[in-house]
Amino acid sequence: MEKTINLTLRVWRQNGPSDHGRFVTYEAKDIDTAMSFLEMLDVINTSLEKKGEDPIAFDHDCREGICGMCSAVINGQAHGPEMGTTLCQLHMRRFNDGDTLVIEPWRAKAFPVIKDLVVDRSAFDRIIKAGGYISVRTGGAPDAHSIPIAREKAEEAMDAAACIGCGACVASCPNASAMLFVAAKVSQFALLPQGHPERESRALAMVEQMDKEGFGNCSNHYECEAACPKEISVRNIARLNREFLRARVLV
Ligand code: SF4
Ligand code: FES
Repeated sequence: MEKTINLTLRVWRQNGPSDHGRFVTYEAKDIDTAMSFLEMLDVINTSLEKKGEDPIAFDHDCREGICGMCSAVINGQAHGPEMGTTLCQLHMRRFNDGDTLVIEPWRAKAFPVIKDLVVDRSAFDRIIKAGGYISVRTGGAPDAHSIPIAREKAEEAMDAAACIGCGACVASCPNASAMLFVAAKVSQFALLPQGHPERESRALAMVEQMDKEGFGNCSNHYECEAACPKEISVRNIARLNREFLRARVLV
């Protein structure tokens, strides 16, 4: 059944990286609860543009939970209140009439704000460039099928490969640690033979780049796992620690 709600939005507005930024309050009237959260922002932006005001800048692309572009903190929760859900897959039916939503960008030194809700996540690209690849030719499906891999390992690798690089783990961590992201990227290759030629160099180089980018250290709060829209397990962080120690001994 169609339903509309009225909300008060307190949105972080920041003109550019050197602007101090501030919260601006908007009244969101007659919001259809069938809308996604990003469609609601589209509606607000249309009304701002009609008034000649600057629309709220926010990141998005696929709007189907796979690209990792959407990113905002709602009432203190990265990607909002729905567990295992990206911001673009969050629907307005999750909120109640009269709610106040405080909407902010990811907050982390390594993710500087570009404008409003848009942050610079190129630190993740540089970590991937440091070691998030394999050099072997994997061939086609028959080649892959000819390599025996234990089902449990294959499934763990697939689970780690589900990371979309959104950065919610960093935004939710009190230390702004990128360990869950790096752990997922190291794990997906460490678990499979195709990832083994660079196994040691990958763990060392990706951790080194992570530290250079200014992310904090992991102190086991597990907020990253709770905020992750792909439900990447913190067990991957334990694996990353083992992979790093193993590489330090072998290299
Ligand atoms: S581990 Fe989860 S929260 Fe972190 S970047 Fe990957 S998908 Fe996003
Ligand atoms: S817009 Fe692609 S994951 Fe949300």
